[in-house]
Amino acid sequence: DPVAKIAAVGGSRHPGIPLPKDLFEPSRGNSEGLDFSDRAELGRVARVVSGGDKAFEAKPAVTSAGEQWSDCGIEAKAMVSRALAAFPTWDARSIEDRAGCLDRLADLLEQERDTLMRICVQEAKKTIPDALAEVREAVDFCRYYAQQARTGLQPIELPGPTGERNVLRMNGRGVWVCIAPWNFPLAIFLGQVAAALVTGNAVVAKPAPQTPEIAAFAVGLAHGVGIPEDVLILAPGGPDLGAALVEDSRIAGIAFTGSTATAKRIARALLDDEERPIVPLIAETGGINAMIVDSTALPEQVVVDVVTSAFRSAGQRCSALRLLLLQEEIAERTLEMLAGAMDTLIVGDPALPSTDVGPVIDQGAYERLMGHREAMRGRWLKTIAAPDNGLFVPPTLIRVDQIEDVRKEWFGPLLHVATWKSGELAATVERVNRSGFGLTMGLHSRIARAAETVEEVATVGNLYVNRSMIGAIVGSQPFGGEGLSGTGPKAGGPHYLPRFCAERVTSTDT
Ligand code: NAD
Ligand code: ALA
Repeated sequence: DPVAKIAAVGGSRHPGIPLPKDLFEPSRGNSEGLDFSDRAELGRVARVVSGGDKAFEAKPAVTSAGEQWSDCGIEAKAMVSRALAAFPTWDARSIEDRAGCLDRLADLLEQERDTLMRICVQEAKKTIPDALAEVREAVDFCRYYAQQARTGLQPIELPGPTGERNVLRMNGRGVWVCIAPWNFPLAIFLGQVAAALVTGNAVVAKPAPQTPEIAAFAVGLAHGVGIPEDVLILAPGGPDLGAALVEDSRIAGIAFTGSTATAKRIARALLDDEERPIVPLIAETGGINAMIVDSTALPEQVVVDVVTSAFRSAGQRCSALRLLLLQEEIAERTLEMLAGAMDTLIVGDPALPSTDVGPVIDQGAYERLMGHREAMRGRWLKTIAAPDNGLFVPPTLIRVDQIEDVRKEWFGPLLHVATWKSGELAATVERVNRSGFGLTMGLHSRIARAAETVEEVATVGNLYVNRSMIGAIVGSQPFGGEGLSGTGPKAGGPHYLPRFCAERVTSTDT
């Protein structure tokens, strides 16, 4: 039953610990306005998403009236100039005022949920459950950063000798350039923007070229809740426009999410010019994420979590499982069960409620993934059928001899599998660490000491024990990696907002 299938995914988040009413509470399933256990409602949404109801009309965001987008350098400069002029007034507004804008934006996102989901499905090729999760996460980011700003950005009186008053204030820094990837075209795009805005900055926001429509819709909503058009400027364009924005020495910071290669390019550009100020770069990038399974793990749970982590979202999550490491003794049985579970996956049109795995984002991604899959043909342990009339990469298990054989992030539904020997848990984690990436890791084990060992040794930002390793929840699982996987601070965590601020102390002799 496809409707029940979506309801199960939509409501799968664990119930969590109840929080006091005035604190942020993330969407965890059947939260207010998002009741996906209601089958009639779900059926209606499925019809909207698949185009059964009237076509959506994207609300155009104000970009740069009348300007041509052909010369990136000129466009970038014009956008930064507008944002710079708007910054002081926005920064001078109260924290409550700016946080209130984010709360209203969250309300509007919920109201427009169906339309947003529909654009997500059509433009980013997300499945219905993924599109729902995307909207929820965007809502969560807005509400969480609003709450964090109210509690964390207030001036702090600091101690000093008698007759001296010390006050620490958190100000906006100026103009932030936010650069987003296509795989979370609403949640990550708006998460970066919301954090930069609520801390008093003006923002030039560049979505990925594959997903401009949903960004335009979201920016239109943001303008509608009172965020001035020059305080939040949409910069639709590709790498050239991104590079031109980064090159502008007047910008005060960059929030980037995307590939490690692009993050390094940006970091180099920031260092190139001796004259420009030193500004923060928050870079969240990719990973070669491993899940380690020992002989005590519950095989049924392992199989469910592997399928979710590796193949959901067609493997197009930075958090997704890339390398499954099975203890030798259980490898054969686990792979047999995994192969059976993969046979139940439906690969196809993301707008159909029955679909588990949709297409990959574009022709380039398709060719890269299919090229690698073909090159590894002799090592396939399992693959399943997929339509051959689109960008569908068949989910495939690929055997590798050792951890070190997976050298890059394959951003799709291709899962590499290796084995490890009993007694070598810590050494196995160390070998995974040596890739230099450090985003997510999974462990399945019923031995408490095994979890402690992995926690001690792993150099990853997010470790998941006895569960899937995707779908971090804002406020509960702050997300982001280390090493080649990013700079931190973690998105959706308590240390994120301060990085967007200029910290200033005034000491007065009274
Ligand atoms: P990408 O690096 O190709 O592009 C990301 C963004 O950077 C796009 O908006 C692009 O136009 C822009 N860009 C490209 N070159 C630029 C340059 N020289 N200067 C400025 N901007 C430039 O990445 P992608 O393919 O869009 O996204 C997939 C990657 O993102 C994967 O590696 C994935 O792991 C990573 N990712 C990481 C996280 C995280 O939180 N760690 C989340 C989602 C995706
Ligand atoms: N935050 C996203 C996840 O955890 C990338 O899957």
